[in-house]
Amino acid sequence: MPTFWQKLAAERGFLRVQAPMEGVTDIAFRAWLSRYAPPDIYFTEFSSFSGLLQGRADTMRRLSNDQAGEQGVQRPLVAQLWGNDAEQLGVALPRLVELGFDGVDLNFGCPHRKIVAKPAGGGLLQEGEQSRALAMLQCCLSARAAGEIPPSFGISVKTRPGFARPDWGFLFRLLDCRAGGRGLDALTVHFRLASVPKSHSQGQGKSKGHINHKDNSLWAKFATALPQPWQDGPCYWNQSEKLLKLRRQSSGSGTLLLGSGGLGPGLSSTSWAAAQATGLDGWMAARALFDDPLYLGRSDCSGRQRDGGKYCEDWTNCWQRTRLPRRLFLLQQHLLLYRRYFYHEGQGQGPIGKHAGFYEVFKKFYRVYLPQVTFWAGGRATEEDKEGTRLLSTLQVSRSVEEALEILNKRSGSS
Ligand SMILES: Cc1cc2nc3c(=O)[nH]c(=O)nc-3n(C[C@H](O)[C@H](O)[C@H](O)COP(=O)(O)O)c2cc1C
Repeated sequence: MPTFWQKLAAERGFLRVQAPMEGVTDIAFRAWLSRYAPPDIYFTEFSSFSGLLQGRADTMRRLSNDQAGEQGVQRPLVAQLWGNDAEQLGVALPRLVELGFDGVDLNFGCPHRKIVAKPAGGGLLQEGEQSRALAMLQCCLSARAAGEIPPSFGISVKTRPGFARPDWGFLFRLLDCRAGGRGLDALTVHFRLASVPKSHSQGQGKSKGHINHKDNSLWAKFATALPQPWQDGPCYWNQSEKLLKLRRQSSGSGTLLLGSGGLGPGLSSTSWAAAQATGLDGWMAARALFDDPLYLGRSDCSGRQRDGGKYCEDWTNCWQRTRLPRRLFLLQQHLLLYRRYFYHEGQGQGPIGKHAGFYEVFKKFYRVYLPQVTFWAGGRATEEDKEGTRLLSTLQVSRSVEEALEILNKRSGSS
């Protein structure tokens, strides 16, 4: 029986998928995307399956998914899980079905040293730990073959080419894994290694030696609110041919192959067209959404043309040229959704969980929506840009969603 993965791939040809991002792709942001730039497939932030089994507040918050409200349009929705115990995972799977998810994605790529040390996430790519990852995948496939989860429930993996060096053999074994004649529905490869030599990540920003801020300047600003090592090291997105070859050689010919990494509007980034030209079945958009939150709905034009770096002529399709009132409207809608999902009945008033769902974490989005005029660009900036920068400073010191909404309402009342 086909899952949403095969159905959508047949329908759309190439899948534009919203990448899972911790502290970013919560229910409010997904609801916002569903209104203004819907992807083909949505992913939750990564969540631990032991947290799910214990019903821990921060895990349940990451996995919140509003079936009664806008959930209908935030579909298909995949829950991304991390952990390392196949038995526990087997118990967690039916819970995901009850919670209304359309599929599960196993995270074999997270490079955070605490997760790697468990070992989980990217730690499972190390030799000696790979059998745990394969057991987890086998557990999902067997549960589906045995009818413990519906045959239409999607099973996918997001991983990297290797831990400290590429290990295509492991990817081959993932593609070859089967139960009841069915294997993985989709395999996403983030084309960076899970462990990056220190020389790539030292001395950048405030993280403990993790972040290569040079990778993306907007991300550098974003990361000051949420330091993460997700984007360390070079991205080998043009290695897709290897992946396609592995699929041809393995028994997993029905597995869709997706890429992740480097997609975005920048000159040195992968464009949607380049991603599609790799021959893979789809690509995930991650930090591109910080440069342009509407990126999933865009064609490739995004401010600069790839040939020679000339400015693009079709400015209508550029986030950089989106006028301040529109940006403020989009921000206000995001805040309203955030309040709706996280601030009802006394919930979400304080930090629940380390990263997800409290106001300080939301604040990083202000840099996405509002222009920031730097001192040296000041003279050339438009009045609107300057106003946007002033609003940014005000919003960054606001103390609650209500206060931020008031600031925005006042501004729209005065214009
Ligand atoms: C803030 C942030 C949080 C992330 N959280 C997750 C996560 O929870 N699960 C996951 O598989 N990948 C996560 N990633 C990795 C992204 O999904 C993506 O693979 C990576 O950023 C590469 O894509 P890019 O170069 O287009 O940003 C995260 C990345 C960022 C920047």
